[in-house]
Amino acid sequence: MKRLGVNIDHVATIRNARGEAHPCPISVAKFIKKKGINSVTIHLREDRRHIKDIDAKKICSIKGLKVNLEISTKNKMIINAIKIKPNFVCIVPENRKEITTEGGLDLKNNKKKIKIIIDKFKKLNIRTSLFINPTLKNILLSKELGSDCIEIHTGTFSNLVKSNKVYFKEFLKIKKCSKLAKLIGIEVHAGHGLDYKSTKLLSKIPEIEEFNIGHFIIGESIFYGLSKVIKNFRKIIN
Ligand code: PXP
Repeated sequence: MKRLGVNIDHVATIRNARGEAHPCPISVAKFIKKKGINSVTIHLREDRRHIKDIDAKKICSIKGLKVNLEISTKNKMIINAIKIKPNFVCIVPENRKEITTEGGLDLKNNKKKIKIIIDKFKKLNIRTSLFINPTLKNILLSKELGSDCIEIHTGTFSNLVKSNKVYFKEFLKIKKCSKLAKLIGIEVHAGHGLDYKSTKLLSKIPEIEEFNIGHFIIGESIFYGLSKVIKNFRKIIN
């Protein structure tokens, strides 16, 4: 069974638009926990534009809920993450000016730093994942750095699918990378920009074990509600 992780950052975006308490990401995390999701993903950005430290702490204290915390490689963020105590961490690149995470990590030029981060979390029994672009080199580097998992940045693929362009080459890249990762003992996740169609296509890759999907789920829920949208995704991925 493939797993569904739901990113609830944009519940906080809506809440923050008014600076008040509604809609509350903690209540949403509790609500979707009962809807058959496998984990909740939150990205504690350096600028705290959506999820805040207090949200992250409270979400991580919900009993029986697995939480995947996305953080940048900045020292301050690692220290915060250790305090927040998530079940999983996903290390992502971060650029203040970007609207969303635009690409994967530059593993080659940050090997030492990322290895130290992975080792820290491993000692705490926190599952580690690296958000990477789909290249074979990145997979081999992820192995060398000792990461438990990789999350393939599916932004390019998703955009091609959405704009009805030819996506086969990008699909093959993701497939090849997934195969290699599985072969060398790294768990494969996928995320970014996914909607029903792109998720359905990627679900055909047996090595992908987890999808992390946010913006589309929150947006589509305006029309159909979280329960229905999550149910649809659960059906699609398996
Ligand atoms: N996975 C990672 C590592 C991400 O950084 C994001 C976006 O924060 C997502 C998944 C979810 O992307 P989207 O909101 O486009 O579904």
